[in-house]
Amino acid sequence: MGEGMKTKPLIITIILEIVLIAATIIIYNPFLKLKLNGNATIKISIGEKYNDQGAKASYLKEDLTKEIKVTNKVDTNKLGEYKITYEIKHGNSTRKATRTVIVADLISPEITLKGDSKVSTCGKEYTEEGYTAIDNVDGDLTKDVVVTKKSDKIIYSVKDKSGNKKEVVRILDSKDSTKPEITLVNSDILTFELNSTYKEFGAKATDNCDGDITSKIEVISNVDTSKHQVFEVTYKVKDNAGNEATAIRKIKVYNQDDLNKGYTEIVSGPTYIKDILIVNKKYAIPKNFQVDSTEAKAALEKLQADAKKEGHSLPTKSAYRSYSTQDALYNRYKTNKGQEFADKRSARPGHSEHQTGLAFDIGLCSVKLGVMPEGIWLRENAHKYGFIIRYPQYKEAITGYGYEPWHVRYVGVEIATEIMTKNITLEEYLGIYDINA
Ligand code: DAL
Ligand code: ZN
Repeated sequence: MGEGMKTKPLIITIILEIVLIAATIIIYNPFLKLKLNGNATIKISIGEKYNDQGAKASYLKEDLTKEIKVTNKVDTNKLGEYKITYEIKHGNSTRKATRTVIVADLISPEITLKGDSKVSTCGKEYTEEGYTAIDNVDGDLTKDVVVTKKSDKIIYSVKDKSGNKKEVVRILDSKDSTKPEITLVNSDILTFELNSTYKEFGAKATDNCDGDITSKIEVISNVDTSKHQVFEVTYKVKDNAGNEATAIRKIKVYNQDDLNKGYTEIVSGPTYIKDILIVNKKYAIPKNFQVDSTEAKAALEKLQADAKKEGHSLPTKSAYRSYSTQDALYNRYKTNKGQEFADKRSARPGHSEHQTGLAFDIGLCSVKLGVMPEGIWLRENAHKYGFIIRYPQYKEAITGYGYEPWHVRYVGVEIATEIMTKNITLEEYLGIYDINA
């Protein structure tokens, strides 16, 4: 009897436990699994792209990932805390998981200073040049910028609504520690014929504190045009604070041989450098070489029409010339005036820009044109139409020819403007001139 009493409760306990385990398996199925990929909380910056890494679901060895239901309302363009929910159902069991995505403003505002971040105050009170502050979320925060003035700097700081800070500093240098600037009048390379008269073009100087200090420039020159060599002219200037600037101009005193050096090393082109067709004593073009000069002709017509509106007459005297025309022209000069004159004034056949159709002689074909109103207008305006004065004065040893204020070459507005502004020649622009060669 006692034995029976003991066995009964044990069986009941076992049965109850089995029922409990079965119920657990049915109601809360421990074999059904759901797991987030990646962190449960993620912080991203507003506007940033959000790629959810999802979750994994399985029942025993069965992959149920594809059956997960995801609710994702994350708006990356709006600040906030978003929940992404993942749910998997299998039989009567359900598993849920949640991820929190925080879309926050993690970027500091930008402060932009007007004027330089390092200024010489030249001993005077600094006048604020202004600033702006922009935030990716809050927009214009310029009004919130706190400006702190110190003796040697100004600190600009701002905070956006999310607490991101930004600080920029403007350094105030009460001393003048900036060098003056020297600008040479005319080019940094000039050439003078042997035994001609040297002309000093001088330079201009400005200083950040002292203004125009041109009169303080010291010119150190030993140019002697009776010597066939390259000279350096040095321009020096000091501002009131003692900062010194130096500029150097090279002067080549040339002879006839220098002008014709190119002919001893002819390259039988056509040669394009930086996409520009170069034709000079060194670079030849084949006898029947042709280019399309439609654009150049149209630009010339526009130049001539605009010159006319301003009262200047610049008629075309010579445009395209064939090899044989150039041959006849050169030989006529040679017969009438001798080879030296011919080589200063005329290209030998195969070496003339006129054979390209991109060069034109306009106005009076004399050096006098250079001092006539239409010649001055041409020198000052040709670049606007894409032309350069191809053979400038004091550049003879670089181009190989005497001054031709009437000969213009089409190179396009951008290049013409650079050449004109720097007072250089096409050879210098293309980097094919060596003053010491
Ligand atoms: N007068 C120029 C140099 C020419 O003959 O092309
Ligand atoms: Zn010409």
